[in-house]
Amino acid sequence: MSDTLEAPPFHPPHPKPRTEPLGMVAFLRAVRENPLNTWMEAHFEEPIITGEGALGRMTVVNDPAVIRHILVDNAANYRKDDLQIRILAPGLGRGLVTAEGDEWRLQRRTIAPLFTPRHVGSFFPAMVEAADRLVRRWRRRPDGRVVDAALDMTRVTLDVLERTIFTQGVPKDPDALGRAITRYFNSLGRVDPLDIFGFPDWVPRIGRLRARPSIRFFEETVNALIDARKELLTRGEPAPRDLLTLLLEAADPETGKGLSDIEVRTNIVTFIGAGHETTANALSWSLYLLSQDERARSRVEREVDEVLGEGPIEPHHLEKLVYTRAVVDEAVRLYPPAPYMSRSAIQDDRIRELEIPADSMVVIAPYVLHRHKKLWDQPDLFRPERFLPENRSRIDRFAYLPFGAGPRVCIGASFSLQEAVIVLATIARSTRLDLLEGHEVTPVQRITLRPRGGLPMRLTQRAPKMAPATA
Ligand code: HEM
Repeated sequence: MSDTLEAPPFHPPHPKPRTEPLGMVAFLRAVRENPLNTWMEAHFEEPIITGEGALGRMTVVNDPAVIRHILVDNAANYRKDDLQIRILAPGLGRGLVTAEGDEWRLQRRTIAPLFTPRHVGSFFPAMVEAADRLVRRWRRRPDGRVVDAALDMTRVTLDVLERTIFTQGVPKDPDALGRAITRYFNSLGRVDPLDIFGFPDWVPRIGRLRARPSIRFFEETVNALIDARKELLTRGEPAPRDLLTLLLEAADPETGKGLSDIEVRTNIVTFIGAGHETTANALSWSLYLLSQDERARSRVEREVDEVLGEGPIEPHHLEKLVYTRAVVDEAVRLYPPAPYMSRSAIQDDRIRELEIPADSMVVIAPYVLHRHKKLWDQPDLFRPERFLPENRSRIDRFAYLPFGAGPRVCIGASFSLQEAVIVLATIARSTRLDLLEGHEVTPVQRITLRPRGGLPMRLTQRAPKMAPATA
């Protein structure tokens, strides 16, 4: 074991698991306020828990072999369940996250080539520019100034998506787009009891009514961008090689068929919806955890200073930033941005003694899995060393699922990890962030897992030689 494993590690906050199950009314209230409060101690100790509840029969699975069976070996027998679709579809439409069956297969085949290492690598400069823009803005603030780091991480990830999806910029006020997206997630992110009980879509949900203007604004902006780009491509003029052009040109490798206009639009919205807040949360939690662990923060700063020197961050640096990357991996273990996955069985299934009847629900919750006592050593402690290359092989592939697994694994995983390491390294070489004294940090699940009430942090600039490369 390395010496770093012996220093006292930080014990990050999380809701205490319950000892008794909640009654129906209290359960529904907890699901709406913060679903993390519904987990019981047994979920963090037992490999399989089956019960009957508001959602019918539900099996919570924390056994890596069973998870592998459900997500990979017998994935064809499991579809995304109706509740999940009811929550996500009003915002994401029938894009890659919510589509099923042949519709999903066709979209996945057509869109997967956009996220190959070559394409993700080509987005490196856009990610560096967005990260530099953030630290330049921070450098204009005096030392000690408090910023909401969670909000700034949302801004930087949105900036990256704008630069990689629509390189030519958003014709309307870019901050307005950011505000619309944030409002949309705040109002849609809560689980509505009407969805749990399967009320039809025409019964109005308060959250959806509130989100309506932002959805409309969002859609109009994206439509205008697609129309402008299509015109450019039709005229045969050179177009930027961003995700929008790639989507418009994408063709199913088996049939050669492209995506419809609606599929292009829903998948642009899907990339923004699935990609900005998740990556922002990964970064926010990394910054928070580093602010609480001086030893880990110094190690990141040392690594970044040594690897980057005084020049700009370059693609070949990424594989050397192993500790910085381990911090991101550990942050999304403790606070997985997508804390909950669920499936519905199509036909009866049997895995050893476990019976999963048709139409029953299976829950794979990375938040629980990543803190499970049978799978992790001291699961509630912040120890990035777990993810250093020499220790990584000890982690079961199916005990660590921040990006899911199997045919529906996150398509943007390497995009977001590349982005997170670039942004974290750019911040670490330039600025220190300390949590505002007295601020209590609580994780809350609103589809994604974020710090409740933001992350007020004080800025301190590091040495001037660490200024961003593109001043
Ligand atoms: C830290 C950042 C991210 C996390 C933690 C994350 C997590 C996940 C997870 C767990 C799934 C699987 C859900 C399931 O099986 O039920 C998923 C799917 C997906 N993610 Fe991500 N994601 C992240 C970033 C991104 C980015 C940057 C993009 C796009 C630019 C993206 C696009 C998608 C899409 C399109 C799917 C659906 C794939 C399919 O069903 O075929 N994600 N993500």
